[in-house]
Amino acid sequence: MLVPVDPLRPSEEAITVAASVINRGGLVAFPTETVYGLGASVYNEEACRRVFKVKSRPPDNPLIVHVEGVSMAKELAELPGWVGEVLERVWPGPLTFVTWKRGGRLPEVVTGGLETVAVRCPAHPVALELIRKSGVPIAAPSANKAGRPSPTTAEHVLEDLDGDVDLILDAGPTFFGIESTIVDVTRRPPVLLRPGPFTENELNRILGPLEIPVFARGHGEPRIAYSPGVKYKHYAPEKPVVLVGFSINEAVRVARSLGYRVGVLFRGRRVEEAEANIELGGDLYSIARNLFTALRGLDKTSVDVGLVEAVEEKGIGLAIMNRLRKACGGRFARDREELRRILASL
Ligand code: TXA
Ligand code: MG
Repeated sequence: MLVPVDPLRPSEEAITVAASVINRGGLVAFPTETVYGLGASVYNEEACRRVFKVKSRPPDNPLIVHVEGVSMAKELAELPGWVGEVLERVWPGPLTFVTWKRGGRLPEVVTGGLETVAVRCPAHPVALELIRKSGVPIAAPSANKAGRPSPTTAEHVLEDLDGDVDLILDAGPTFFGIESTIVDVTRRPPVLLRPGPFTENELNRILGPLEIPVFARGHGEPRIAYSPGVKYKHYAPEKPVVLVGFSINEAVRVARSLGYRVGVLFRGRRVEEAEANIELGGDLYSIARNLFTALRGLDKTSVDVGLVEAVEEKGIGLAIMNRLRKACGGRFARDREELRRILASL
């Protein structure tokens, strides 16, 4: 069931219905400021198992627990003094902390058997009201099928999970369009596990120096499985996509000369020779908002391959490139020769 709701002033009626679904052990897809989540009561083990099942998510990839604030987080997570203080200042916001789990109430299935738990307080009125009304923390991964681009609209949720979710709160597009920044604060210095809207500079300001492993930049395989999620395929449309680090016009010409029908995800100008043009946006924040819609849009065209313009890895650009490298399965062409080689191997 799809329930429309105002993103800034959600009606109490809609939230009450959704909260009762959560409390009865059902699944509710709801908007956050980043992407839509697929929520279940964290204390209902059966419901949490169903989240893994409908997403086809591997059981060792844990869920983020959504809370209404620091005191609710303390129900299930150890928040040493300095961590609590930082969170009081920055929550609600697109920042997830991985910390030690606490107490015996949290089902194993939520944390994929780990001793740590990821907690976050979303800065979206609908998400916050839903957690408050339910009165329980809500475990929620992104509301997409495993491996697919994350959902930034209720339509994306329907594309992937229609029939598998009990209620969808439709508040229109999310605000940032890419998932929260994740930081592991069980280590010193803290480790960036996933770049997101909360940028490296902002993190340095609140946490001091951080470790940024290569996998957080979206490269290669992690040496140590800091975060189980990083080893799985992510964000990928069905069509092959290649990240392009040189002139997109030239890249389209190369691909066409090899007989490919090409779709471009462009930043500045359309590429007339391409069979399909999908706009990413002018500035990095627009690109972040449009990114997953654009990747999903590629599968609605009849092209053979998608070419995506790379962005600078600054600010939220680090998170965009992290998603793009994964969406492209690591295929990154920096010049024509590399593009030819990549296309030949598709
Ligand atoms: O913005 C977001 O974070 C969205 C919205 C819905 O809140 N949620 C989201 O969840 O992106 P999901 O499940 O798609 O990504 C969660 C990531 C996974 O890569 C998972 O491996 C990691 O968080 N994670 C969860 N618990 C962890 C833990 N205890 N230690 C390390 N990584 C963890
Ligand atoms: Mg996800």
